[in-house]
Order: sequence, then C-alpha cells, then structure tokens
Amino acid sequence: MKKIFFVFFLFFYNNILHAENGYDLWLRYLPVENQLLLSEYRSHISALIFPGNTAISGSAREELVSGITAMLKKKPVPAESVLSNGTLIAGTASRIEKIYKVSADDLKAAGEEGFIIRSVLINNRKCIVITANSDKGVLYGSFYFLRLLQTRQAINSLKVVTAPQLQLRMLNHWDNLNRTVERGYAGFSNWNWHMLPTYMDKRYRDYARANASVGINSTVLTNVNANATILTPEYLRKVAALADLFRTYGIRVFLTARFSAPVEMGGLPTADPLDPAVQQWWKNKADEIYKLIPDFGGFLVKANSEGQPGPQNYNRTHADGANMLADAVAPHKGIVIWRAFVYSNEVPEDRHKQAYNEFVPLDGKFRQNVLIQVKNGAIDFMPREPFHPLFGAMPKTQMMMEFQLTQEYLGQGTSLVFLAPLFRETLESDTWRNGKGSTVEKVIDGSLQTQTFNGMAGVTNIGNDINWCGHPFAQANWYALGRLTWDMKVIPEQIADEWLKMTFSVEEKFLAATKKIMLESRDVILQYSMPMGLHHLITYGSHYGPAPWVDKGARPDWTNVYYHKADSAGIGFNRTASGSNAIGQYAPEVQQSWSNPETCDEKYLLWFHHISWTHKMKSGRTLWEELCYQYYTGAERMKNVQNEWAKLKIYVDKDRFEQVTMLLQVQYEEAIWWRNSCVLYFQTFSKMAIPAGYEKPDKTLEYYKSLKFPFAPG
Ligand code: GCU
Repeated sequence: MKKIFFVFFLFFYNNILHAENGYDLWLRYLPVENQLLLSEYRSHISALIFPGNTAISGSAREELVSGITAMLKKKPVPAESVLSNGTLIAGTASRIEKIYKVSADDLKAAGEEGFIIRSVLINNRKCIVITANSDKGVLYGSFYFLRLLQTRQAINSLKVVTAPQLQLRMLNHWDNLNRTVERGYAGFSNWNWHMLPTYMDKRYRDYARANASVGINSTVLTNVNANATILTPEYLRKVAALADLFRTYGIRVFLTARFSAPVEMGGLPTADPLDPAVQQWWKNKADEIYKLIPDFGGFLVKANSEGQPGPQNYNRTHADGANMLADAVAPHKGIVIWRAFVYSNEVPEDRHKQAYNEFVPLDGKFRQNVLIQVKNGAIDFMPREPFHPLFGAMPKTQMMMEFQLTQEYLGQGTSLVFLAPLFRETLESDTWRNGKGSTVEKVIDGSLQTQTFNGMAGVTNIGNDINWCGHPFAQANWYALGRLTWDMKVIPEQIADEWLKMTFSVEEKFLAATKKIMLESRDVILQYSMPMGLHHLITYGSHYGPAPWVDKGARPDWTNVYYHKADSAGIGFNRTASGSNAIGQYAPEVQQSWSNPETCDEKYLLWFHHISWTHKMKSGRTLWEELCYQYYTGAERMKNVQNEWAKLKIYVDKDRFEQVTMLLQVQYEEAIWWRNSCVLYFQTFSKMAIPAGYEKPDKTLEYYKSLKFPFAPG
C-alpha cells in the first residue's frame, strides 16, 4: 500500500507539480521533501549574516537567499550578530572578522579564489561559516553550499577548504555575429548582438550564474574563425555590457582576434606582426578595449589554420604573432591564448604531426602572458584520441587544454554522451616527459614547470534553446567541464551523481540507472561509430553521421579515406616508424607501449597501425570479426539504454522524459545507420562475410551513400 502511494505520489509530483523545460539547468533548488532532513537543514540555517556590498557579494547573497528559501521553504532571517543556533555567516575573512576569526592556514589554502566552509561554535551557538579571501571565493563557496543542500548532504559538521587547480576556467563560444554557431546544436547564439547593449536578455545573468556555480571564470564570446567586426567601437560597447554583467559573477570576457584586422578595419597595407604600424594598431585597439572593459581577459587566436590569416602570411612564426598581441595587452595585464590547432593542406605530412612540428621549435620563445591552447588530441576532438604529443613536449611554454563540449564528432545534438570519462582519460594519460607519472594533468596545471598561468577551456554546447544545450543530458558536459577546471581529479561518477541529483532526481533507483547510462555512453558511441582507433569517418562538411567512403574533398586531409586507409590488406593508419612516424613525437616509453601491434592497447590499434583483416585480436576474433563485433555490440547496447530509460518514467517529469525517450530513439536509429554503413563499406575491402548470428543490414551500401543532409545544423 505504502509503495503504491509512493509511486502515485511521484507520478503526481513529477507530472503535475513540476513541468520542467530544462531552463534552470542544475540550479533548480527544489524543496526538500524528506521531513527529517528538512528540519535538520532548518535547524542549521535559520538566520543569515552576510556583510558586504560589492556587486559580487550581492550575487552571492541573492543566490544563497533564494536557493535556501526555495529548498527550505523558509527564508533565513537577516541578522547582524550571532544570537541563535543556526546562523549562517557568509563573507570575506576581513568582513566577518568581528564575528569569526578565520585561521591563517585556511586562508592560505583557499588562495585568491578558493573558499572555506566550516561548522563552528560562536558564543556557544552552532553556526556555519562560508568565507574566503575574496568576494569571488565567497560566491563560489555559496554555490558549493547550495549544492550540498541540493544533493541532500549532511551539513552538521562541515570542514571544507578548497582552491581551484587552474586559473583560467574557461568557455570558448564558437558564436558568429549573425548568431549562427559553428558546430552548435542547441539553436542560435546566446548573444543577441543586434539588441545589445540596451536589451539585456535574462539569459545572460542565468548563464553567468551557471558558470559561477561550477567555478568557470572566463568566457570567449566569439568564434575562433574570427570576424574583425567585433573589434569595432559599436560592437565593443555590446561586449562591455556583457562584461559588466558577467563581472558580477566573477567572469572575465575574452574575444577572438582576427589576425588581419589591421588591414580589414584599420586600413593598413599589412598585418605583419613585426611592422611597427601594425604593432601600434593593436596597442591602440587594446587601449580602447581596456577603457571600456578594465578587466578584459585578452585574445584567443586561431591563426594559419583552415584558411585563417596569421603571421605565416608574412613569413613570421606563431611566436612572432602571439608575442605582438601579447605586448599589446601586457600593460593591462591581458593574456593571449594562441591555438595549436594548425595544419596545412600544403604540407605533405600526416596531419597528426603538423602542430608538433610547428610548435616544438618555438619552445621558450613565447612571452610570459601567452598560453598555447592545445586540443586533447592531435587530429580534432575525435571520439577517442591518444593525448596530443605537444603535452609535455614544450617545457618552457605555458600550455592549456582545449576540450570540446559541443558534440561535433560524438553524435551532435541527438546523442546522449557524457564526456567526463573522455576528459579524465586524457588528463590521466602519462606523457612520460619527466619520468613516470608526468600526466597531462600535471602539464596543464604547471606542476612540472614553473609558470604564471594555467587553464582549461571547453568549446561550449550552449545556444538559445530553452534548455541551453539542446539534449537534456548535454548540460552535464558543461557542468563536468566546470567541475574539472576546479579539480581535475574529480571522478566522472561523482560529477554524474551531483549533476543528476540537481538536474533530475535524488531517488537512488533513478540515480543508479542513469549514472550507468551516462558513464557507459561514450563507450557505446565509440563502439557503434569509430571503434578501435578509427577516426574521422563523418559526413563531409556537416560531420553528421557516417561516411567512411568520402574520398574527395577540397583537400586530402578533409577526406575520410585519408584516415582509415582501408584496402584489401587491412585497415588503419600506419603512424609507426615504417609509416608516418607520428608515434615518434611521443616519449620513448609511450612509443614503446603503442608501437607494436601485438601489444598496443586495442583502443588505439587502428590509430597507429594498418592491420590485416585476419589479424588475431585479444578476444580471439580476427580483426574483421572484431570490427563487426564492436559495431553490432554498440548498436545493441543503445537498444539497452532505451530499455533502461523506459523504466525510469516515474522519476522524471513528463516533458523531459519524453524528450529523452525520443532522442534515444533517434540515437538508436543512428547507431544502426553507423553500424550498417561502416560494416557494409569496410566489407568491400575485407571481402569477408558478416559473422553468423548478426542480422544482415536491411539496406544497401548504395542507399547509405545516397543519404544527404543539406540542412544539418552546426
Ligand atoms: C574543427 C571544426 C571547425 C573548427 C575547427 C577549429 O575542424 O570542424 O568547425 O573551426 O575544428 O577548432 O578551429
């Protein structure tokens, strides 16, 4: 009887009381239903002392009050001194000094942006203190405290001291000024440039809140394929309006710089970085920007890559280009983030090797305020890549990580893929550049060298869709990036757990099932799309869906046969010493573990080796059988995901449940499409039958080749 009532309650609660559209992200602040917990929370938070009148402390206070009031269904009483148990005190150490003296050790550990949350006794009253060296720290601490309540944690003996591992915790928007978003699958750009600066969409504040809640403190508003118009006075005023708002949530704004801007808008005959007039133009531009935006972060630059202008147009190096811009922003404490995603059609070299070849000779030549931003892998955000060989290979250069949240190669807007396992896999990889344990994480945080700056960026998946990210589960990737920029060691399971509790439900059964779905999701898509190190099998241009047969394009490295190299002998890219020798760009220990096809981790097998169709795999299957096994298993697992999700109906509000149900069906159909296309296509080389027991594709290869998607988003 009790159970029936419970199920009925959940059904009623989820369907009637809580129509959800995903707009609130993980900041839902739902009332605590468990009465015991509710009275426990209320006993700890009845009054609030929150001194401070800066804009950032205002953001923190507003969030704390509204979050607590919503969850506890009771507003904490504003107070000035501790009169009762259950007083929550939030403020910088200096502001709350008269009430509570924060220990010097704690403050040291918290640093500039970290915070301290402690259960303490003041005048014999039980209190909770949220404090920090800065208002920003208090803001982050407030969000952390709210998260404890949202995830229904005990708060009776708190002892938290934490500081971010990275300084630049950043989003990169690939947003164009006409509001299209390059590789965006969640609608148009969040930035309504036409209406700015006067019309300030409510979304801007909520975007800032969401970022601050996970510690993100920097955002690049514009696409790396840059448009110089953003640097005109008219657009800079629009940028300034956003910067003014974001500042109140501790976020600094950056812009992409189009290298040819001095020619395009300055009327100069050249953009040569060594030309004094060009240098002066950028200095003036920087001065103009900083007048409007005193805390402007600096520039992100994509140069001499995929047709973008850059210093090489003038026979200068990447260092010449980066340093010229760095000098322009240095007087204002700005920084330049220069991307290492460079490769050229004209260079007859494995694309995998090109960034390393260009950048390693420049080690030590960049200014102190330059960071080189490197994608996690050497090709381009593939579902799985070995770590980029540049990590650890430039010890005198500051290097930051670039991950992609928008799922360009991982099912785009239709697929449930949780990316934290991909991020962790890269961060944990051992570069061996400084002996065993020289992980990418340590390269990034600078613990292998002394450096002024460090950081991590995620190419966002945010658009103007009502739920921000399109797929309801895609929000988890935004959340995950933030959590990892603060602490690269947080495990994906914890990230998923927190996010699910805050975004969907705290019910144990729901959590166990959805966590499993999320944690396996990247493996599933790998299996049915690009298993065993296969990569770049996507449709030309839109990158939507499978097209391993693409053999013609504007340039050879934009075709797919360039990457899989299937022929009658086998499949895979020989990047060993007998091939392109990209493997030679890694430390000897790493080379050793990957260079022998017999011992190479099979997840990278076809990345580094051309393997015969009859090669015996660890499973005992031949390579061809294994390939079929992977594709068929991946698609089968997608079916299971659908079945598992179907069981969760009672825990999820109607709208989001149905949305995810439909998306999983789309994804399942895509899995079959990937499986059939790839198996049928590779079969034309292996000339082997699909092993017994697997259903035969119901369509022909010609059918799959004929599919066209002229209006695919992104
Ligand atoms: C990929 C992506 C492009 C993007 C580029 C980059 O190639 O398809 O749209 O511009 O990465 O990172 O610069």
